[in-house]
Amino acid sequence: MSAQIFTVRLCNWEDARLEASKIREQVFVFEQGVPLALEMDDRDAGCDHALAYSADGMAVGTGRLLPDGHVGRMAVLKEWRGKGVGALLLQTLVEKARQRRHTSVRLNAQSYAAGFYRRYGFEVIGPEFMEAEIPHVAMQRALATPSD
Ligand SMILES: CC(C)(COP(=O)(O)OP(=O)(O)OC[C@H]1O[C@@H](n2cnc3c(N)ncnc32)[C@H](O)[C@@H]1OP(=O)(O)O)[C@@H](O)C(=O)NCCC(=O)NCCS
Repeated sequence: MSAQIFTVRLCNWEDARLEASKIREQVFVFEQGVPLALEMDDRDAGCDHALAYSADGMAVGTGRLLPDGHVGRMAVLKEWRGKGVGALLLQTLVEKARQRRHTSVRLNAQSYAAGFYRRYGFEVIGPEFMEAEIPHVAMQRALATPSD
């Protein structure tokens, strides 16, 4: 089997909006049943957004980094999961946080996905809680800031 090639680009909300919204709607709203009103918030304009593209240029995954160093809205289209797209998105957002000199990255993981984040150095830092009727845990990864 040939290796899948993906690219991830970082962009602002203006450039990410169309493709990121489409992926989130598909994954969170249609697949997971999160109400659209909960999926949307007013924080996107202040975030860095990562978009993953397949070799033929289709947007297949997305995630965002908030100004306070939280990663969120990580979503990969169902048929593209298990191929390394989520890993590439997460690593890109963590690297961006490092460049911004954040000393840690935090996120609220859906509990079923905690194992995914653990692979990339995140640790659970609190008890499980419910958000959008889905169990979550807060996780954190400490970062070494880049030397100049
Ligand atoms: C969670 C999610 C982003 C992971 O993306 P993905 O593209 O499937 O992940 P990858 O293929 O990059 O997986 C990287 C590694 O993590 C592992 N992994 C993936 N999902 C996992 C999970 N739920 N639990 C434990 N490990 C997991 C993979 O097996 C892979 O391991 P390997 O390197 O040994 O092969 C994706 O499943 C998704 O979009 N889920 C629906 C939306 C969602 O729940 N988002 C998370 C909100 S916190």
